[in-house]
Amino acid sequence: MWKKLFKGEPSSLPEGNLLYDRVNRTRLPQHTAVIMDGNGRWAEGRGLLRTAGHTAGVDALKQVLKVAIDLALPALTVYAFSTENWKRPHAEVDFLMHLFSDYLAREINEMDEDNVKLHFLGRIDELSPRLRQQARSAEEQTQNNTGVRFNVAMNYGGQDELLRAARQLAAEAQSGQLQPADIDAAAMERCLDTQGLPPVDFVIRTSGDMRLSNFLLWQAAYAEFWFTETNWPDFTPACFVDALVAFGQRDRRFGGLKNK
Ligand code: IPE
Ligand code: IPE
Ligand code: MG
Repeated sequence: MWKKLFKGEPSSLPEGNLLYDRVNRTRLPQHTAVIMDGNGRWAEGRGLLRTAGHTAGVDALKQVLKVAIDLALPALTVYAFSTENWKRPHAEVDFLMHLFSDYLAREINEMDEDNVKLHFLGRIDELSPRLRQQARSAEEQTQNNTGVRFNVAMNYGGQDELLRAARQLAAEAQSGQLQPADIDAAAMERCLDTQGLPPVDFVIRTSGDMRLSNFLLWQAAYAEFWFTETNWPDFTPACFVDALVAFGQRDRRFGGLKNK
């Protein structure tokens, strides 16, 4: 049923669509972050190479982004490659880099038509010149779009991001632009890769592991978490909707008292 939604039609989903019927549109997350985990296990379970799992994972990502567009989620951030993922075998890292590059080349125009604004988090300048250039040009092409803010974390680590921010603030203090006493949450956030985005209020991790793996350590300070055993390539729009429905039912107290 929902399959017919994914032909590339932008956001104008009929209100009465069955897939989205259960979603309370007044209680959607402002910033959803997804740890797309379990590609390797998905492939191994089928007797395939791990890389086949990464390829299948791209299709899942495409569908999840379509849901974000259909529901007009303000921001979606996905973890594509961590600063720790360089520890993997060279062939797998190389495959992933080519996959990201192909994904961008293939999808950028459709994302642009869907009014998606793309942004990359992490040390993009350490990636291959081709990927770096593609990332920057994708950001440029979509910079005036006003729909979903879609962030792809590539060569991203939360601790690395905080260290970069600390260095920037220290440099500003050293040059007299800023007093150490003026370093507050706003100053910190201006130095993060997520500058200008709402705080992460929802973190989804697939494939059964329950950890952050160095993702958005500052931004997810008050996030709700959703864990599922489903491996990322099997994470369908219906799975995403399940997660969004659960988010809508959470009681978010922020240290205060019941808020329902
Ligand atoms: C997530 O899937 C994708 C990346 C980290 C790039 P994994 O490759 O981590 O899959 P598992 O966790 O080994 O199953
Ligand atoms: C987190 O998954 C990183 C991405 C999904 C890109 P990992 O598979 O690298 O995390 P660990 O090793 O299980 O913590
Ligand atoms: Mg993993």
